[in-house]
Amino acid sequence: MPASDNVPVIAVASGKGGVGKTTVAVNLALALRDLGSRVGLVDADLYGPDVPRMLGLRREREASHLTVFAAQGRPASRLQAIDRHGIQIASAALLVGGGQGIGVDAGIAQLLVRRLISDTDWADLDCLVIDLPPGTADIQQFVFTLHGRKLMVLLVVTPQVIAHQDVRRLIAHLRMHKTVSLGGVANMTGLICPSCGDSTPMFPEAPPDQSVWGELDKLASIPFSPQAAADADDGRPVLLTQAVPQQVAAYRALAAAVQAELGEPPAHLN
Ligand SMILES: Nc1ncnc2c1ncn2[C@@H]1O[C@H](COP(=O)(O)OP(=O)(O)O)[C@@H](O)[C@H]1O
Ligand SMILES: [Mg+2]
Repeated sequence: MPASDNVPVIAVASGKGGVGKTTVAVNLALALRDLGSRVGLVDADLYGPDVPRMLGLRREREASHLTVFAAQGRPASRLQAIDRHGIQIASAALLVGGGQGIGVDAGIAQLLVRRLISDTDWADLDCLVIDLPPGTADIQQFVFTLHGRKLMVLLVVTPQVIAHQDVRRLIAHLRMHKTVSLGGVANMTGLICPSCGDSTPMFPEAPPDQSVWGELDKLASIPFSPQAAADADDGRPVLLTQAVPQQVAAYRALAAAVQAELGEPPAHLN
């Protein structure tokens, strides 16, 4: 099975938890699929691995052990990506039972994420979307320094000033990695009224001198929809339900911008 080496990576990051990274990663993967890309989705948030749930997958069986490293050729050396809605998924949540947590130290966490990316058998891939934990700790450092491939980091930002502050720190850090391209996704930019469909602000906007939008390209603006939040809990992302046209349009625009940055995937025969 082909590996993921050299495949362009789109890492979805933020300074904070709960701002919509996983939501963006899942819907972006589906929107890229709709553009004809063969997409892998790696759930690298080991401490809150939500990708499977947002796609309606759950492992019930408890794990008795977790392999973090196996020499090539050993039976446990490879993982299998799981196909869901035409995208391929690798998540630590599928290596343990639904009620089991993964409490590992930084070094082991990096090994486990390396394993999800490089020791997984993927079918042919055009790109890998990686859903990161918040901040700049060890797992993020590992992903930000993946070499020998194109790397784009998408920063998810909600309107509040504290979200901007934390993302500015992340931008300062990422600018040190000269080969990384950056893009921004504004999430929860307004609340879509369930009855009339109009959008009203949810949070006060960060003032211009504290906002990231002076230094980061905004590739999409995604309003908050209670309907989309409820469907996501049920494992039905908005790109599948198509229930919120404003969000679907935003994800399609985001996927087109990402594809333009990474270059069109090669035409492939099916
Ligand atoms: N634009 C949005 N519309 C509706 N619900 C959203 C939106 N963005 C995020 N959510 C919801 O907010 C919660 C947190 O989002 P999540 O993607 O898990 O954040 P993170 O991965 O950054 O911790 C989830 O319940 C998700 O469904
Ligand atoms: Mg998440």
